[in-house]
Amino acid sequence: MPVRPVVIVGEPVLHRRADPVEVIDDSIRALVADMFDTMDAARGVGLAAPQIGVGLRIFTWQLGNEDGIPGRGVVLNPYLTSTRPPDGEPDPHDEAEGCLSVPGESFPLRRGERAQLTGLDLDGKEVHFEATGWFARMLQHEYDHLNGFLYVDRLGSRWARKAKKAIRAQGWGVPGGTWLPGVDRDPFGHDDVDDDDEL
Ligand code: NI
Repeated sequence: MPVRPVVIVGEPVLHRRADPVEVIDDSIRALVADMFDTMDAARGVGLAAPQIGVGLRIFTWQLGNEDGIPGRGVVLNPYLTSTRPPDGEPDPHDEAEGCLSVPGESFPLRRGERAQLTGLDLDGKEVHFEATGWFARMLQHEYDHLNGFLYVDRLGSRWARKAKKAIRAQGWGVPGGTWLPGVDRDPFGHDDVDDDDEL
């Protein structure tokens, strides 16, 4: 089952803290392979295990950067620290964030400019790196997933109202919603334009 259904806001696994990986065995390696396949099919830049219904502390990414970090990777049991988001209103154009679990939507959100990640790779070796800009944003977004938060939970009041309305209008916010990348119509219109910024 390589590409797995992506669960949508309202599914309980997205809204609770995920559990640490205890042992890196074949089932974990198979899960990570499926996460990469699902992220690629969805043309996402990041995917957290809860987004395919698995409450474990793992996320994958596919995102270029100028910080010397591998453009494609996975981290298990991460710990992230990040700088405080700058004061002021987010720019609707330059700071708009999306999420595969809130398909087709995007809302502006301020994030810290820098982030430091430690965790384990798939061989159980410790990894550590520092990121800036969009890579730092992606890390904050995915780390939030592991703690039961979506970016829509962090929006300022004006955008939070719009997001709530959009979620209700789609019939989401309740358990059971999923979409299948590569099969269902791409909710972010990646079929039409090349614009990868969903996390
Ligand atoms: Ni997301």
